[in-house]
Amino acid sequence: MSASLLLDVRDLKVHLRLGHKVVKAIDGVDFQVGRGECVGIVGESGSGKSTMARAVTRLMPNVNIEELSGRLAFEGRDILAMDDGDLRALRRGRGFSMIFQDPLGYLNPTQRIGRQIHEALSRDAGRGSDKTRVLTLLDEVGLPDPANLARRYPHELSGGMRQRVMIAIALASDPQLLFADEPTTALDATVQLQVLQTLYRLHKERNMAMAIITHDLGVVAELCDRVYVMRAGKVIESAETIALFEQPQHDYSRRLIDLSTRRLTRELQS
Ligand SMILES: Nc1ncnc2c1ncn2[C@@H]1O[C@H](COP(=O)(O)OP(=O)(O)OP(=O)(O)O)[C@@H](O)[C@H]1O
Ligand SMILES: [Mg+2]
Repeated sequence: MSASLLLDVRDLKVHLRLGHKVVKAIDGVDFQVGRGECVGIVGESGSGKSTMARAVTRLMPNVNIEELSGRLAFEGRDILAMDDGDLRALRRGRGFSMIFQDPLGYLNPTQRIGRQIHEALSRDAGRGSDKTRVLTLLDEVGLPDPANLARRYPHELSGGMRQRVMIAIALASDPQLLFADEPTTALDATVQLQVLQTLYRLHKERNMAMAIITHDLGVVAELCDRVYVMRAGKVIESAETIALFEQPQHDYSRRLIDLSTRRLTRELQS
């Protein structure tokens, strides 16, 4: 796997300061993503899933970091050693992107959609004008009438459309790896499914690796090649998706699977 390894995280520790207390949000995690691979990250609330994604993508606003250590390598380059300029370059050029549960919190309310996508475009030219690239991206994420949509503001769109805009912004830098932190949790069930299908199509079409954080093991079963199970800041199990479902090594993993199955059964019966 090593030649095709995109992201290689070893012994990651993220300890956060909360008042007088130190929370070991991530406490010695190993995590790998291969080129074009889709991995799932599951685990109970507070287990450290979001903190890990934020540490890896180096998007950690508003936190008091007590310790950040380990080895974080993207295509063999040390992410922890990068300064802001290096990180910006990595985000703008075939590096990684991230999408979140709540697109409104990350979209600029006073700026038209087209402008926001334009600002995120990778600098690598040669695929038509910037305007064409913006419209192509809107089309690619499944939004109707891109020319009209580009002129709209975030509040004029539905939640599902906003999440698609967020995906378009994330894709604008042509990333090799997309982190998605519960990308559909805020949406209703049918829209969730549509957005997930879109993500999966983009993953396949672009051969873009994805790391999806979710509470829904059904999503993992549908989309992911491998799964990491997190608990209390540690990865307690990582396995091929099929192996995890057929033979979870830990009671905790089994319970997560059972919980998700019960939720699904309830939804199907309602
Ligand atoms: N800004 C912060 N300051 C201090 N501690 C934090 C901060 N954000 C998260 N934590 C703590 O870090 C730990 C991991 O939180 P994290 O949000 O990564 O979990 P999660 O697995 O994403 O949970 P959820 O499923 O609810 O999104 C928790 O103990 C949480 O309380
Ligand atoms: Mg989270």
